[in-house]
Amino acid sequence: MSLDAFIADLDALVADATSKFAAAADAAALEAARVEFLGAKSGKLKDAQKGLGAVGKDDKPAAGKKFNEVKQAIEAAFAAAQDRSTSGEGVAATGPAFDPSQPGTRHRLGHLHPLTQTIEELKDIMGRLGFTVAHGPEIEDERHNFEALNIPKAHPARDPLENFYLAVAGKVHGASVQGSGLNANPEPRTPNPELLLRSQTSTVQIRVMEAQQPPVRIISLGRVYRPDDADATHYPMFHQIEGLLIDKHVTMADLKSTLRLFAGSYFGGEVHIRFRPSFFPFTEPSVEVDMQWNDRWIEMGGAGMVDPNVLRAVGYDPEQVSGFAFGLGVERVCARRHQVTDIREFYRNDVRFLEQF
Ligand code: PHE
Repeated sequence: MSLDAFIADLDALVADATSKFAAAADAAALEAARVEFLGAKSGKLKDAQKGLGAVGKDDKPAAGKKFNEVKQAIEAAFAAAQDRSTSGEGVAATGPAFDPSQPGTRHRLGHLHPLTQTIEELKDIMGRLGFTVAHGPEIEDERHNFEALNIPKAHPARDPLENFYLAVAGKVHGASVQGSGLNANPEPRTPNPELLLRSQTSTVQIRVMEAQQPPVRIISLGRVYRPDDADATHYPMFHQIEGLLIDKHVTMADLKSTLRLFAGSYFGGEVHIRFRPSFFPFTEPSVEVDMQWNDRWIEMGGAGMVDPNVLRAVGYDPEQVSGFAFGLGVERVCARRHQVTDIREFYRNDVRFLEQF
């Protein structure tokens, strides 16, 4: 065997051993590579040593020197691979390596639902205008949902097809105002009360006025229920913000400026208010409220001056006090501001949608 061939074989052996040691994925693989190259009985280095006897006599010293260098190089490559493995760099013997230079695992933080955020913001805005928050129950009796709001028995708004009446045996118990400390009407006043899921937050107007004397300046936010088919602008459950202000000499101008301030704060910028004549049994005159924002008119809900019959129903004197009331859709204002075109998105619980708020 020529010296050149012997040296070439050894160089190839170093390269092979070094790459196998480096590629060993765990301690077992590294040990297998060690046996392959450095094994005392049949390792490749041992084999190569046999070639030493085959080189010419004159070349022996050079060949022996080369062999020792190669042996050292392979042993050093093995030692380095072993260091890497035990220090946890690369792939360690036990479990995945910890690499402090890798980015960490991000914790997902939840946040409030867009409608909850809107409700909080509306409370804030109206709070600055002096309105405090009142609560009422979602299960209501006919007095608060209809009767006291000047909606008589034969009125189409009371049709069973327009409401979620509840099949409850026995009497109404404790249809009281939750959370506000008001306990307006523990004894039902209607002779044969029926329960329903409230169809409007105007019920809270009645509960508050039954419990306190004027002046009144409240808002109430909550769920209302109507048997509508769900589509882009309807849902059988939605949220309203109800406002009620009762005092001496309250006028339509007060209503308009309150709603303009409200819209200006929520949408930002200059917002125009438009009233279109309408009808609600509990307000006179009654209007539909539109707000102009970004060159579009947005229907917000209903409003008007509290009907004298409503004031009488709660024991107020319409000669002494007057007031305004409004009821706006929370989904509607929220959808407008965020350009949501289908209110069903609010209820799909799709985090990809919800994360945007
Ligand atoms: N309650 C009415 C509705 O649900 C809205 C409204 C509230 C209208 C207060 C006038 C005054 O449509």
